[in-house]
Amino acid sequence: MTVDLRQKLGGRASRRHLLKGSAAVGAGTLAAGRLAGLAAAQDATPAASAATGQLEVFSWWTSPGEAPALQALFDAYSALYPDVEVVNAAVAGGAGVNARAVLATRLQGNQPPDSWQVHVGRELIDNYVVPGYCEPITDLYESEGLLEAMPQTLIDQASQDGEQYSVPVGVHRGNGFWYNRQVMEENGITVGETMSIEQFLAAAETLQAAGIVPLSLATKDTFAAAQTFENTLLAVAGPEKYDQLFKGEADWDDADVRTAAETYGQMLAFVNEDHPALTWDQATAMVIEGNAGFNSMGDWAYGEVVARDAVENTGWVSHPGTNGSFVLVVDSFTLPVGAPNPENARNWLRVLGSREAQEAFNPLKGSIPARTDINREIFSPYHQWSIDSFANDALVPSCAHGQASSPAFQQAFYDALLGFVDDQDVDTLVLNLQDAAALDAEMAS
Ligand code: GAL
Repeated sequence: MTVDLRQKLGGRASRRHLLKGSAAVGAGTLAAGRLAGLAAAQDATPAASAATGQLEVFSWWTSPGEAPALQALFDAYSALYPDVEVVNAAVAGGAGVNARAVLATRLQGNQPPDSWQVHVGRELIDNYVVPGYCEPITDLYESEGLLEAMPQTLIDQASQDGEQYSVPVGVHRGNGFWYNRQVMEENGITVGETMSIEQFLAAAETLQAAGIVPLSLATKDTFAAAQTFENTLLAVAGPEKYDQLFKGEADWDDADVRTAAETYGQMLAFVNEDHPALTWDQATAMVIEGNAGFNSMGDWAYGEVVARDAVENTGWVSHPGTNGSFVLVVDSFTLPVGAPNPENARNWLRVLGSREAQEAFNPLKGSIPARTDINREIFSPYHQWSIDSFANDALVPSCAHGQASSPAFQQAFYDALLGFVDDQDVDTLVLNLQDAAALDAEMAS
């Protein structure tokens, strides 16, 4: 077996759901009629529009590409619940670094919003479910048919002890590599369907000689330093070892880890000097505006491309050497314990799980829908490519985006990689990662 996360089986219903379905069929037409009536009632705008009060939604979607995508979700909600005031409580900062700190303070002070953005996997479970900040929404998964509509992998990562705790709205591919088509053409660089590390390094030499920043990087958003390394690690170590490392099943003092660090060091020789002053979307904008050749970034970068009307001139491949793998970064929303407006929050989650909302949001955000029963035709060539990659490639979780490891390891990973960008000391990096993994193992035991 390659990576166990490959069990992504689109549309596989859980046993529980199958049982429920067959019971309904067994009860005959009366039950079927009642189910149809219920569905109609859920769709009926008059009942829905009676809702009033507020809905406070907490996220970190504030960049030029993220904000309109979030607005599309608000619009989908407001179309059904026009009398509810939607309060956008977004806190700026890529990958939620700042938002999570603010949220932690609010949760500790018993002041949750009505719903907050969270990555499924360890971030959801360790940070919020285990400490008791989230209500289970298993009934909502059942009533909305989400157990059938979403791949088992996503459901599993949103679940703990058989209960679901968040609704995934989109699936980002973390190992994107974006380039400016005109810049490549002007410099005689042909980018094929895939790119190896060697091919990137050769292209980078050419761009540097022409006075163009080969690779844009932004380390003001601390996640970007960690993300570029995890992608490079995936390229060198492959999905199986990558997975083992983050699960604590392989030692960080490994030849592949060292090679990945050295390779990352080679790539860092080609980045913009002002990277500590830039946010991730500014680094992506450098490619869009022709001030850099490439940017390694999850496909929220595609949201920036859409927002800046640069689809035609922007190309993409997998981060060098990672073709055949899909780094999972799945955004979802929760139902807090003690939500000020729990009914509005539940309706918000119903909307997020719907095909309509996912079809409105994901084209703007760059992610693909979490539902598999969407209309593929409305999506861009990039999205089609990512949908195919999700269906066929090895799926591995992102550590930079909280899915692969404990929050403590994620923080140590950020710190270690920020340090590495400065000193490029492979031994120190390996030691720091080993220490973090040892601490993690100790905490878990
Ligand atoms: C990720 C998140 C994306 C995008 C990105 C940059 O963690 O999943 O939706 O917002 O951060 O902020």
